Amino acid sequence: RGKRPAGAPDKKLARPVTKVGVVGAGLMASQLALLFARQLKVPVVMTDIDQERVDKGVGYVHAEVDKLLAKKRISPDAANRTKALVTGSVSKEAFSDADFVIEAVFEEMSVKKQVFAEVEAVVSPECILATNTSSLSVTEMAADLKHPERVVGFHFFNPVAVMPLLEIVRAPKTDDAVLATAFVLAKQLKKTAVLVKDAAAFVVNRILGRMFGEITRVFDEGTDAATADNALRPMGLPMSPFTLLALVGLPVGQHVQESLHSAFGERFWLSKNSQKIIDAGIKSLWQKDEDGNAYIPEETLAMLD
Ligand code: 3HC
Repeated sequence: RGKRPAGAPDKKLARPVTKVGVVGAGLMASQLALLFARQLKVPVVMTDIDQERVDKGVGYVHAEVDKLLAKKRISPDAANRTKALVTGSVSKEAFSDADFVIEAVFEEMSVKKQVFAEVEAVVSPECILATNTSSLSVTEMAADLKHPERVVGFHFFNPVAVMPLLEIVRAPKTDDAVLATAFVLAKQLKKTAVLVKDAAAFVVNRILGRMFGEITRVFDEGTDAATADNALRPMGLPMSPFTLLALVGLPVGQHVQESLHSAFGERFWLSKNSQKIIDAGIKSLWQKDEDGNAYIPEETLAMLD
């Protein structure tokens, strides 16, 4: 209790955060906006490429607050305050007075770099830029910025509201004050922060990647995927691997595998069949029948080699 987390600089170096920006208004970004508004009690602005996406993100936050209210997990006052704190915009100018901006956009290095360049053009020199990337290099993401020392990895786990872990990624140039702020924020967000190196997929996704790699290999080799997945259900895992992949999103899972495959080669398997399913626009292997039992639809199975 009160002990400084391993690798965290002195918290006296931390800067105050009075306004947060979230780049993206998808599911991960919206979960982050809710967490920051609820726990930090500061204004949070979300941006996305069009008004429809922005409205959807803000709508998600309001709906989640209503669910918390219905469960009496939040007081009516706190619910109203949290909703009022979260706003949306199609313009990154909305970040001009933010102290901390986190991106949760598409997992593609060029997209992330462009986002950071656009944000850097409007924020103050002290504003921290954080990335929620699952597997990409934080160092490379910061490389072309005027102030690469302001960049830190801040990697949350799905579902953000309930998973306690936060991986804080220090890139070689990350400033001590930036890192100290990240640790203080983690505490205010009630997350357990661990400091990890800027290596492909960091620590947790690298380990999960082995599990996903092996189960997709079983799948590609023609073993009945349902049997393999079901066999793991009673093993005490909170979710079976394919259910977890559905939660994370098959495309995100595949991006993590690609990063790991580039870094470590054949230790991390790229599944042809997973890619086929993603290309067909299928979000999850599993569907549920009327009794709530999970099954893989015939159409999906018919697609597999
Ligand atoms: N949003 C908000 N709250 C949620 C939620 C969601 N999506 N899903 C579940 N919850 C809440 C429920 O409302 C419930 O809260 P309550 O007690 O207030 O009612 C609580 O979580 C427990 O939920 P349930 O009782 O419905 O179900 P479980 O006991 O099965 O728990 C779980 C759900 C916590 C999600 C559990 O199944 C679990 O831990 N699964 C593994 C998740 C995991 O490993 N995530 C990491 C994925 S990797 C990742 O995200 C990294 C990325 O880079 C790819």
